[in-house]
Parts: sequence; structure tokens; C-alpha cells
Amino acid sequence: MPVNRNVRAVLSAVRSVLPDPERPGRVMIAVERLENSPRLDSALGPLRRAVHALPLGGARDVLHGRWLGHAVHPLMVQVPIGTWMSAAVLDLLPGQRRGADTLVGLGLAAAAPAALTGWVDWAELRKPQMRVGLVHAATNITAVGLYTASLGARLRGRRARGRLLGFAGLTAVSLGGALGGHLAYRQASAVNHAEQIPAVVEPGWHPIGDVADLPVGEPVRRQIGETPVLVVREAGGTVHALADRCSHMAGPLSQGTVADGCVRCPWHGSVFRLSDGWNVRGPATAPQPVFETRVVDGRVEARLVQDPVRAHRPASRTV
Ligand code: FES
Repeated sequence: MPVNRNVRAVLSAVRSVLPDPERPGRVMIAVERLENSPRLDSALGPLRRAVHALPLGGARDVLHGRWLGHAVHPLMVQVPIGTWMSAAVLDLLPGQRRGADTLVGLGLAAAAPAALTGWVDWAELRKPQMRVGLVHAATNITAVGLYTASLGARLRGRRARGRLLGFAGLTAVSLGGALGGHLAYRQASAVNHAEQIPAVVEPGWHPIGDVADLPVGEPVRRQIGETPVLVVREAGGTVHALADRCSHMAGPLSQGTVADGCVRCPWHGSVFRLSDGWNVRGPATAPQPVFETRVVDGRVEARLVQDPVRAHRPASRTV
């Protein structure tokens, strides 16, 4: 029966893109190929420089979401995606023209600020993430183009064309959203890379070496179990210790530069206060886990500060 054949064909198509227990699905394979393909690489450097050259000043950290504690881009995209999805529903209902047209226009107005937050985050990613991010941006730009054409057609009274272009735009923005999900969750582009520290560092004091071995004012790396720790000894004797892997992308803070009571990450320039780990400058949106320190018989010991409120107060002391 033709209906059964059609159902079987649809099920087969769905099965072909879903992973089975034995191997990854086609979608995952395609996106991982994209991550590893150097085809777009010639565009990455110039685009990155162009984003860095935007005269954003302190607004750059606002766009990263430092004020919010995590990336602001996922919040900003709610408006275009939500309005365009709603417009598609209204397009399927009778007598909802004005509402659908208004929502398409609102989505277009909200797309530019959403895109800006995405571009400033994109410029601080690693290469495989940038590749996926570039295609994510291209699909969303395509969606904006389709919705702009859709709105034009609607305003000229060409309803059917406007609706069709709107559905095409929704398809493009959905594809962009799927790539954004891969970028954020699979490639960990928008996660706190220091989040696991309280779970992996044992409570209590841990020896991290002799105080005499710590150069004054220089960042050095020590270990607490498997966890690397940045240690800085000040001229006055205070010893600071932070988790070494940067909350932004796990860059090694012990290879960064120390100045004015802060350490600057060597990878993308986030600045963390040594006394409490606070991220005083992005792109990091999360602070750095901080350790209390004490010196006992010439040996430095460190203990993770578990209380997040207390963590952002000066904590080091000498016994
Ligand atoms: S890894 Fe990006 S600022 Fe540290």
C-alpha cells in the first residue's frame, strides 16, 4: 500500500540520521567532518581580526555576558527564533496576517544584536569551534536574508511567496540552531571550564611545595592531585592560588602574566583577581576557583574555598 510505503520511507530517513547504539549517525559524522575540515580556515583570521577591531570598549564584556555569569548569546537568540516560530504558526492559521508580519519584522529587528553577541564570542574560540561557528553564522545570515525577502513580499501583498520564504527562513534558522547546540554542548564553547574543580579537589589542606621555591611575583604551576594550580607569591609573603585552567577555555593561567594583583590568561586575555579569582575582564564569564593558602614550617598548603560568596573575598593568610 502506498501509504505504508511512504511511512516506511519516512521512518527509514529518520533512522538514517539518528545514531544507533553501535555507531554515530550521519548528522554527527557530518558536523564532526566540518569541525576538522580546513576549507574555511582562510576566512577565520581576517574575520577574527575584524571582530577584534570593532570599537566596543567595555561593551565587549557586556556582550560576552560577564555581568550575567554565562554567555548572553543564547538569551538573545530567543527573540528571533521565538518570533519567527510564532509567525510560522500564524501563517498556518486564517486571518492572522498582521500578527505574522509583525512577528517577522520583530525577529529581524532582534537578529542584529543577537548576531553581535555571537560574533564577539566566536572571535575567542578554538579553530574547530570557529569552523562550526562560521557555518552556524552563515545559516543564520541566510535565514535573515530569507526573512527580509519574506517581509518584502508580505508588504507587497504577495502572501503565498512571503509565507514560503518565511518557512524557508525557519528551516535555515533551525539548522543554525542545531549547529549552535553542537558548538555549545558538544564542543563546550560556552561552558565554564573550571566548573568541575569543587567536585575533583578533596576537601582540606594540601601541600603544594616549599615557599622558598616560589619566585616572587611570577606565576608557577603546582598540582593538587590531578588538578593543576596557579600559585603566585607576592613580595609581602602572601601566596595566592587559583585553579590553573582558565574558566573560559581551559587556558594555562600559570603561563599568563601577573600585574596589579591579577593574572592575565595567555590565550584570550581574560583577567582574574588573584585574591579571590574574580574575572575582572572577559571573555571569561565565570570566576576562577580560588584556594586559601597558609605557610606551615616553610611549606605552602592550599585548601579550596567551597563557599562561592566567600570565594570572592580576600582569603590568603600566613601562619
Ligand atoms: S582560555 Fe580564553 S581567556 Fe583563558
